[in-house]
Amino acid sequence: MPRSAHLPLAPQSPKVRSPFIAPWCRGFLPPLLLLCACFAPLASRASFAPRAALVHQCASHRLISRPPRSLADTMESIKGKVILVTGANSGIGFAVAHACIVAEAARVIVAGRSAERIDAAVAKLGPRAVGEVVDQASFASIDSFIARARKAYPVIDVLFDNAGIANPPHAFTPEGFQTTLGTNTIGCAYLTYGLLPQIIASPTGRIVITSSWYAAECEPRAFEARLQDVGGRRDTDSSMPLQYNQSKALQTMWAEALQMKLRDTPSSAHVLVASANPGAVATSVFDVDKTQPTCFMWFVRNVASNLICVSSEKGAMPLLACATSPELAKNPGAMFGAAGPSNSGSKMQLFKLPKKLFTPSNRDAAFAAINAAIVSTGRKAL
Ligand SMILES: NC(=O)c1ccc[n+]([C@@H]2O[C@H](COP(=O)([O-])OP(=O)(O)OC[C@H]3O[C@@H](n4cnc5c(N)ncnc54)[C@H](OP(=O)(O)O)[C@@H]3O)[C@@H](O)[C@H]2O)c1
Repeated sequence: MPRSAHLPLAPQSPKVRSPFIAPWCRGFLPPLLLLCACFAPLASRASFAPRAALVHQCASHRLISRPPRSLADTMESIKGKVILVTGANSGIGFAVAHACIVAEAARVIVAGRSAERIDAAVAKLGPRAVGEVVDQASFASIDSFIARARKAYPVIDVLFDNAGIANPPHAFTPEGFQTTLGTNTIGCAYLTYGLLPQIIASPTGRIVITSSWYAAECEPRAFEARLQDVGGRRDTDSSMPLQYNQSKALQTMWAEALQMKLRDTPSSAHVLVASANPGAVATSVFDVDKTQPTCFMWFVRNVASNLICVSSEKGAMPLLACATSPELAKNPGAMFGAAGPSNSGSKMQLFKLPKKLFTPSNRDAAFAAINAAIVSTGRKAL
């Protein structure tokens, strides 16, 4: 569903501006509102989870921010390539898609779960963007996308596995997986397996996973427990840090294991896989329920997160570096990042994952458990 439109010079993710605040008092509002957010009563999990995420983002952001080099040189390699970005209708994914359009990719496939939001993104990106509706939480939707993609895109040079959620209401995917784990980890793996033939068909095929520093926050004991029920089929609650940390830790280990499998097979040995940590980025990913915006979430997204986090354009840089830097080949399967306030480029920096959790045996167990979850639905895994 391509849409032609002019390419905006400096596209930003859409932001809501309050019509109720007089210009003279806007300067006082951010600190005041930040204080309110910190001390507001912990009335419910719905309000606590995003606040906890923000505080955490703030601390982690300072720890990980470093100024990287310019991306300009390596982005040359995107020219003429076919790029697929999942979760590309907003936030980091949209910024990645736009950067690839600017770098003269032959085609940028903008994938997401909502036809309306995908159409809107394609209209902003212009004629080299093409929209594809695929719900990463549904194997039926992934199956139908893979069937279309096999015909429409025989070669995919870079797959950005970016779609993700952090804080959905407690629910399960059609296959019975807890939504965060089913989308971020199992759906991501299943979609990637389906697209492998086209990625292998590219002589420079790359797979870039949008991970998170939250992967490093996963408690080893909680992780071991998660391995017994990797899809969260038996979970009775969806708590933001718990399933999100686990989904990103599992995804990061799976990426490394996938790289090893591909490297060990001569026909796919050229494909590179990397995880990227975008840092703390001002997007709507921590919204409890995007369909029901609240005043608190308006504040988090439009005031507090803009003070603490970097823009989606800066958050996209580690992903773009993973897609283009020749340095990736020195550390295949590793995690790189992160973005900081002075981030303006692509220096490849290894993200140090905790050795207690990221062991070879945990990696192999995570890979096997994710594959077993896919096989349990009657589908094939790698
Ligand atoms: N923001 C941060 O600070 C941060 C930090 C570390 C990592 N990350 C990761 O970065 C990635 C992008 O998130 P973001 O921060 O850019 O937030 P975002 O703007 O909410 O982007 C998430 C994207 O994923 C899509 N998505 C969610 N569930 C999906 C599904 N079932 N099927 C297909 N697409 C789906 C969303 O589509 P809808 O618009 O339809 O919901 C949206 O386009 C995520 O994997 C997130 O975990 C973010």
